[in-house]
Formats: sequence, C-alpha cells, structure tokens
Amino acid sequence: MKIAVLPGDGIGPEIVAQAVKVLHALNLDLTLEEAPIGGAGYEAAGDPLPEATLQLAKEADAVLLGAVGDWKYDSLPRDKRPERGLLRIRKELNLFANLRPALLYPELAAASTLKPEVVSGLDIMIVRELTGDIYFGQPRGISTLENGEREGINTMRYSESEIRRIGRVAFDIAMKRNKKVCSVDKANVLETTELWRQVMIELAKDYPEVELSHMYVDNAAMQLIRAPKQFDVMVTGNIFGDILSDEASMLTGSIGMLPSASLDANNKGMYEPSHGSAPDIAGKNIANPLATILSVAMMLRYTFNDEVSAVRVENAVKKALAQGYRTADIYTEGSQKVSCSDMGDAVVAALSL
Ligand code: NAD
Ligand code: IPM
Ligand code: MN
Repeated sequence: MKIAVLPGDGIGPEIVAQAVKVLHALNLDLTLEEAPIGGAGYEAAGDPLPEATLQLAKEADAVLLGAVGDWKYDSLPRDKRPERGLLRIRKELNLFANLRPALLYPELAAASTLKPEVVSGLDIMIVRELTGDIYFGQPRGISTLENGEREGINTMRYSESEIRRIGRVAFDIAMKRNKKVCSVDKANVLETTELWRQVMIELAKDYPEVELSHMYVDNAAMQLIRAPKQFDVMVTGNIFGDILSDEASMLTGSIGMLPSASLDANNKGMYEPSHGSAPDIAGKNIANPLATILSVAMMLRYTFNDEVSAVRVENAVKKALAQGYRTADIYTEGSQKVSCSDMGDAVVAALSL
C-alpha cells in the first residue's frame, strides 16, 4: 500500500505529522511518500499542483492531504493560487464523492456552541458532490462590459449522470445506516437543482427501503441548527455541501473534528480534514489534528477495506478524549489543554490501551 502524503500549507504540515505518527504506530505494510501541493507547490515548482505531485498521487493507492492556502497568495493569478491545486487534484483523480461525517463524540457535547441536548447522539453523513457545480462550470471569469464596468461570471451546472452517480453513493450509504436521505437543493429558484431533485426522485425507485426527502438549502442551514438529529444522510452539490459541512462541524464541537474522504468510482481516495490551512494559528502547534487522524481512519475503511484498523484509530481518538485531552478549539473547563503534537501522542498511546 502506497500513500501519497501532501502536507500543504499553514497548519497542514503540523496536523499531517500527527496523522502520519498514527499510521506508523499501526504497523501496517505501508509506504509513505511526501510531495508539495498548494502554496508549498507554488514555492517548490511554480505550480500549486506540480506535475510530480500529481504523478505521485495517481500512482498511490490513497492520498493524505493537510490543507492548502494562505492569504499571501491571494493576489496571484487564479491558476497559481493554492486552492486551484486542490481543485485540480480532485478533478484529475475524478474524486466526485466527498463524504463528511458530522459525528459528535459524547465527551465533546459541552464543546459545541449548541445545547448538549440538541447535539448529543448526532451522527450525520454529508455526501457532497466534488467535481462539478459552480466550482467547475463554464463560462467563468471577470470581464469588462461595453459600458466599461466589470462583470463576474460563474456557471452552476450538473449533468444527469453526475447527479445520478453521487445520488447512488448517498443511497448506498443510507442502506448501511438509518435508510434516510435528505437531498438539499434550491429547486424553487435554480434549474440546475430542479434537475438534481428530479434525478434523485428517479433514483429513489431503485431503493424502495430508503426514505427520500427534499429540503431547500436555506431551510437546511436553519434545520441543522434547530434540530440536527433529524438528518441521517444529506446529499447535495459542491457549493451547498461546502457551506453546510462547515456549519455541521460546529455541532460536533469544532471544525477541527470533521474528517473527509473524497472518492472516485473505485474507492481510490484522497483523505483530508474538512477545514482549511488556518493561517491564523499556523506554526504555533495548537491546531486540532483529530480531523486529519480521523481522515486516516476513513482511508483505512474506504480505500484499504481495513475496518479493524479504522475502528482502532477511532477508538483511540475516543479514548484520548475520554482521558480529558483537548486542543484549544475543543477545550472546556476541567479538561486538559494540550498541543497539536501532544494530542497526536495521546492518540498513539491510546492505540495500545
Ligand atoms: P479555515 O478552515 O482554515 O479556518 C477557519 C477557522 O477555523 C480559523 O479560525 C481557524 O483557526 C479555525 N480552524 C481550522 N482548522 C482548525 C483546526 N484543525 N484546529 C483548530 N482550529 C482550526 O478557513 P479560512 O480561514 O476561511 O481559510 C484559510 C485558508 O484555507 C484559505 O486560503 C482557504 O482557501 C483555505 N482552505 C483550504 C481548505 C482545504 O485545503 N481543504 C479548506 C478550507 C479553506
Ligand atoms: C474545502 C475547501 C475548498 C472547497 C477550497 C479551499 C477550494 O473549502 O475543502 O471545503 O471549497 O472545496
Ligand atoms: Mn470548505
């Protein structure tokens, strides 16, 4: 098994180092190879996705990614910016299915900004389409109109087959869970998502046991805060999924708790925390590495079919939390505040408990 390790920018290298520590501690037959992406790729090769990095990612069985981006690159031309490297690797590897599980560890009920009774028992799987939508639609750009003023354009688009394949992922996951899929759209305004809704309804016929519901994205944003436990699997497009998953992360205590898996049709995957490079706390060894460590568990589960090791990692995270270890973002009174690397050590130690 070969894993491409792409630490990226900001807190990326700090959190990835913890996840790599956990991988090594599992004593599996793994080869890890590191390469730059994002701002680090731009610094090393003038490209946020250097050719060698892309090749390594293509050859590897799985990719572990930290995060990309820093404010200092915001004035570069768009194709040189860190975020473009991330979008390109997702597209090049055809990673259309992004799974973002919002799961509340009981120990963190008090860390959420919501009341414990609202979030306790929370277990939502957000299925976000990752290679289409307004992120990739053409035409796009900033142009100048005849009257001299500038105009910005992006295009929201989905083909039927793109909708169907992400829908299947959501329904298949629901079959292994509580058999409920909530499809989130804006079908009252946007034709793209009207088609989305139609295709989901057609697809549901293949899954008679699954209860399909539909919700407009504005209502979904509200319902996630009002009564999040009504959801089992949520399926939505690229942009809505981006926004709703950050929102859902706060139900679990912190964005630092939300892992992700980005899969192609054969479960080859890239695994990364759902959060960004957090430039505001980078280099201080205070970031929460658990979303990245939990992404490793997803890698073991989805790409390597090693459920035993996946559960081992998840249990070790639970034990470290039960022992009272907390990074600053999930700290509550009475617990023990630890650094990013201390948390990594605590999870490694808990693997053998
Ligand atoms: P962000 O997710 O990086 O940070 C948002 C807030 O959450 C910050 O206050 C940050 O300190 C905090 N935070 C994030 N991860 C944390 C962790 N593990 N532990 C503790 N606190 C954490 O989002 P942003 O500030 O909007 O974006 C910063 C940069 O990251 C931008 O360049 C953006 O484009 C990029 N970004 C990259 C990814 C990715 O690589 N997948 C995702 C989102 C944003
Ligand atoms: C994420 C990020 C990315 C996205 C950015 C950095 C391109 O926010 O992974 O959620 O919007 O998909
Ligand atoms: Mn995001």
